[in-house]
This record gives sequence, C-alpha cells and structure tokens, in this order.
Amino acid sequence: MATLEKLFSLRGKVAIVTGGAQGIGKTVAMAMAEVGADIVIFDVKEEKARETAKEIAEKTGRRTKAFIVDVTKPDQVADAIAEAGEAMETLDLLFNNAGIAIHKPAHNVTPEEWLRVINVNLNGIYFVATEFARYLVKNHKKGAICNTASMSGHIVNWPQEQASYNASKAGVIQLTKSLAVEYVIDGIRVNCISPGYIYTELTGTMRKDWQERWMDITPYGRYGKPEELVGAVIYLLSDSASFTSGADLIIDGCYTAV
Ligand SMILES: NC(=O)c1ccc[n+]([C@@H]2O[C@H](COP(=O)([O-])OP(=O)(O)OC[C@H]3O[C@@H](n4cnc5c(N)ncnc54)[C@H](O)[C@@H]3O)[C@@H](O)[C@H]2O)c1
Repeated sequence: MATLEKLFSLRGKVAIVTGGAQGIGKTVAMAMAEVGADIVIFDVKEEKARETAKEIAEKTGRRTKAFIVDVTKPDQVADAIAEAGEAMETLDLLFNNAGIAIHKPAHNVTPEEWLRVINVNLNGIYFVATEFARYLVKNHKKGAICNTASMSGHIVNWPQEQASYNASKAGVIQLTKSLAVEYVIDGIRVNCISPGYIYTELTGTMRKDWQERWMDITPYGRYGKPEELVGAVIYLLSDSASFTSGADLIIDGCYTAV
C-alpha cells in the first residue's frame, strides 16, 4: 500500500481540469479527487460545471471549484488561473482536455468552423498550458500537464470527414513534445493521451451507421469507457512519471495497431 500511495497518490495537489463538466474530463476529475487531489473545473457549460464540482466534493470530500472559462480566450484563462491559484492556495497539475469536433467534408467547412475547431482544440490547449506554466514559474513551483490529444492525431478517421479535428489533434501531440522540452528546465512535465473511440456525449450522439463502422474497425469491437483513461492520466500527472515528459500514450483498443 505504501508503494501504491508513493507512486500514484495526488494528495496535497490541486488539479485544473478543462472541459471537466462532463465526459472524459468529469470522469478523470472524479478519479483524481478519489486519489487525493483538490479539483478546479474550467468549462463553458456553467450549470454543468458547477453541478460536477459539487458532485465531486460530495462524493470525495475534496475541495472543488468551478470557473466558467472559454479556453480560446487568453484573458479569461489568465484571470481564472490567477483566481483559482488564490482560492485554492496552490495549483500543481493540469488535465488540459477541452475539445470539440465538426464532421463535414473539408470543402463545406466554413473558415469560421475551421478556426473554431483549431481555436478550442489547439490554441486553447496552448493558452491554458502556457498560462499554467507561467503561474508555476512565477510561484517557484514544479508541476505536470497532461493534454488530451487523440488517435485522430495519428490516423484519419473514416467514414466521417473531420480534417480540422485531425489536424488540431496532430498539433496537440507536437505541441506537447515542444513544451515538454522547453519546460524541462522549469521542472514542468508535459505529456498527452491519445484516446480512440470513447463513449461520451461527444461520440454517443453520432450517426448510428458511423458508430457501427467504428466498432467494426476497432479490434476490441467496442467503445472505450472514460474510466479506461483514468489510470493513464493519473500516472502521467503523478510522481511515478517523474522521468516521463513529451510522451503520448495511445489508448484505443488497438485501433492504430492495425
Ligand atoms: N470521446 C472520444 O471518443 C474522444 C476520443 C479522443 C479524444 N477525445 C477528446 O477528449 C476530450 C474530451 O472529450 P469528451 O468526449 O469528454 O467530450 P464532451 O463533449 O463530452 O466534453 C468536452 C467538454 O469540453 C467543454 N468545452 C468545449 N469547448 C470549450 C471551451 N472553448 N472552453 C472550455 N470548455 C470547453 C465542453 O463544454 C464539455 O464539457 C476532447 O478534447 C476530445 O477531443 C475524445
């Protein structure tokens, strides 16, 4: 038990979870609280974010707070990080996870739609990660970041068309490596996870024929559950990953292996 505690406990740490109101973010936030972290949720969904923060506090007894933050707005991100740092007295970890997808043939995607996806999925990751790192450096603290990329940063999904999403997630993987190298000197580790098809509000409402096709071409023959990402994120944010930075952990039921 002592080894388990030493390797994976997040006790005494405060973690920001972007996109933490629902889906993967919510499940991971709950699990991080269960292993000891206090949780700060950043999300645009005001009511859901507050409900989730309340639910996590009630179930785990940890301190939680919800901030209404659009990750595409650097000023909002900076204000929220400063406020969260004051309210929680410290910030240590970041699960940088907010993301959206648009499914349309590339020639039908408007410039606004393209920019929206790149803004949330890539620029948002950059704004939150760098502001969080700025906070750590300013406060002479070390920390860890786990970004949510996707298997779509490695392969092209089919049959749905989603060039903007795929490009944004490939960008997240390269951004993760770049920040990891830059921040070695500051004692900040930066890694990412690349999930395959995970059953959430994002995927569960998609066209049924697409969903059937995805399951056909995933060797596991099923969706992953958000719970199946929890261990990877806790590992990458915990002290057991002290020599791991710039890594991308693919969790996809063998999708990219075939
Ligand atoms: N579900 C999957 O199959 C899957 C696979 C690979 C990667 N991902 C990635 O995992 C992450 C979470 O996905 P999910 O399935 O839980 O989706 P979801 O839609 O259930 O949750 C995404 C959350 O992000 C929030 N969000 C969206 N735009 C935001 C913004 N501008 N600022 C702040 N918050 C914002 C939403 O309000 C929502 O709470 C995303 O980055 C997604 O691309 C999902």
